Amino acid sequence: MNHPRPLVLCVALSSFALVGCGTSPPTDPPSPASTLTVPSGRYPARTDLLAVKIPDGAPTRWYTAQFPPLRSVRLLPNAPDADLAGDLRKQFNKAILDPTLYEQDVWMPAQGDRIARLLDAHFGTSAAPTVRIPTWEHMVATGVVRFDQSVSFGANLKDIRAKLGKAKLKDWEADWKEASAAKSELKLDDATLARGSVVYRRWCLQCHGPSGAGDPAYAVEAGPMPRDYRQGVFKYVTAFPPPTAPKKAGLGAGGKARRTDLKQTVRNGIDGTIMPAFTSLTAVELDDVVSYVIHLSVRGETEFATLSRAIKPGGDDPIYEGGELDWLFVQHQLAVLTNWGVAEKNPIPVPQAQSMTEKDRIESAVRGYRLYNSSDFGCTGCHANYGRVQQLKWDAWGTIVQPRNLTLGVYRGGRTGEDLYARIYGGIAPVAMPSSGQHVTNVAPRTPDKIWDIVHFLHALADPADRKRMQAKDPTIKFDQ
Ligand code: HEC
Ligand code: HEC
Repeated sequence: MNHPRPLVLCVALSSFALVGCGTSPPTDPPSPASTLTVPSGRYPARTDLLAVKIPDGAPTRWYTAQFPPLRSVRLLPNAPDADLAGDLRKQFNKAILDPTLYEQDVWMPAQGDRIARLLDAHFGTSAAPTVRIPTWEHMVATGVVRFDQSVSFGANLKDIRAKLGKAKLKDWEADWKEASAAKSELKLDDATLARGSVVYRRWCLQCHGPSGAGDPAYAVEAGPMPRDYRQGVFKYVTAFPPPTAPKKAGLGAGGKARRTDLKQTVRNGIDGTIMPAFTSLTAVELDDVVSYVIHLSVRGETEFATLSRAIKPGGDDPIYEGGELDWLFVQHQLAVLTNWGVAEKNPIPVPQAQSMTEKDRIESAVRGYRLYNSSDFGCTGCHANYGRVQQLKWDAWGTIVQPRNLTLGVYRGGRTGEDLYARIYGGIAPVAMPSSGQHVTNVAPRTPDKIWDIVHFLHALADPADRKRMQAKDPTIKFDQ
C-alpha cells in the first residue's frame, strides 16, 4: 500500500481486469509489527504506578507554576517537574509499586505475563468481555495444585487433601457460591457485557480509557480526573455495607457502588466536572453500560489486588509464581465480586423528605448549623469556612482532592435532599470523608433527624435569602468564619 500507484490508469483498466490493480506492484509481506497492531480488543496491561496505601495528611507540595498540574501520583514517571515528583514520591515511599520495574526476588516478567494471561482468561477482551468464574472443579484443582511446588503432584495428592482438610473446602465453596450469586445479581453475563462494551466504546472510552484507567493524555488538565474504575471504589454511592462485612480483598466492600448509583451518575452526569449527562441513552443501554463499568472495575481491582500482593519490595510474603499466583488471582476475583454483591444488597436507609412549612425548614437549618459546627460531626475539620479554604488531600487513587466548597450549592452526587442525606450518612469512602450514620441510629420517634437538619442547613447555606432567614431567627449565626 505504501507504493505510489498510477491511479488513473488503474481506474480505466479496472473494468477489464479486476485482478491486477489492487495487487500490483507487489506489496511487501506484512511485517510482524503490523500483525501485532491489528486491534484485538485486548485490554492493555497495567503500566502505571499502583498507589497501595494513601498517606495521611495532605501533599506537602503541589505543582509549580510553569508545569501542568500533576494531580495524581500515578502519573509520576511523566512529571515534567522532577523536584516535585521526588517530593511526592517521598510521601508515598514504599506505598507506590511499579509493575514495569523488574528486579530479582521482587517481581519478574514471568509473573507479569502470567497475570496478563489470567486476566485474559477470566475477563476476556473489550470485544468479547466476560466475567468468568472458574468451575468448582477448576477452583479445587487450582487451590490444591499450588501445594505442589517442589514434589511430584500425583504422589502427594493424598497428603495434600489431608493437609487441606474438609473445613477449608467448605470455606472455598461458600466463597465460590457467594461470588457466583453476586455475578448474576450484578448482571455480568456475556450478552449484557458485549452490548455494554459497544455503548462504552462509543460514549465513555475517550475519558475513562479502554481498561477503565481514566488517564487519557489530557486527564491532568481535568479537575477532577475521570474515574479510574480499577481501584474498585466510587464516590457517589448509596451502598452502606455493615462495618462487620469481611474485608476480603482490595479496599473491601466500602466505596462500592450499587447499580442504581452508577445509573444515576451516567444519566445525570457529575455537576462541576467534565463528566456529561447521558440523557439520550435508552434504559437498556444504560443498564448494559453499567454492567460493563462493573466488569472493568472487577477486572481492574482483581489485577490491582493481585499485583499489590505479588510485587513485594522487601516484604515477607512468599514469592507468588506458578500455581500460587493463579490461586491468589482466583481468590481476589471471588472476593471482589462478593464485595460488589454485599454493596448491592445494603443500601443506606434514606427516609423520604417530609413536606414541611418554611418556618420548620429554617428551624431545622438552624439546628443543622449547630450540628455542622459541632465536634460530633466534625465537618469543619475538612470543610473549613464551609469549604472556602483550599485544603488539599490525597484520595484512594493517589490523586489530589479538595473538600467541597459548600457555599456554592454544586454537588457532584446530586442535589436533592435525599442525595445529600445519603452522602452525609455514608460519607465518601475514597476521600476519607467519614460516615455520620452512627448519629441517627436509635433515634427516638419524633426527635428531629440530625442528618435532615444538616441537609436543610446545606441547602440554606447556598441560598442568600435563606441565610438571611436563618440570621433573622438567630443573629449569632455567621456564614463567614
Ligand atoms: C468528558 C469526559 C467523560 C466522559 C465522556 C465520561 N465520563 Fe465518567 N467521569 C468523568 C470524570 C471527570 C469523572 C470524575 C468525577 C469526580 O471525581 O467527581 C467521572 C466519573 C465517573 C464515574 C464515577 C462516579 C462515582 O460515584 O465515583 C462513573 C461510574 C462514570 N464516570 C461512568 C461513565 C460512563 C458509563 C460514561 C459513558 C456513558 C462516562 N462516564 C463518560 C468524565 C467523563
Ligand atoms: C476528612 C475530611 C472530610 C470531613 C470530616 C467531611 N468531609 Fe465532606 N468532603 C470531603 C471531601 C474531600 C469532599 C470532596 C469529594 C469529591 O471529590 O467529590 C467532600 C464533599 C462533601 C460534599 C459534596 C458531595 C457532593 O455530592 O458533591 C458534601 C455535601 C459534604 N462533603 C458534606 C460534609 C458534611 C456535612 C460533613 C460533616 C458531617 C463533612 N462533609 C465532613 C472531605 C470531608
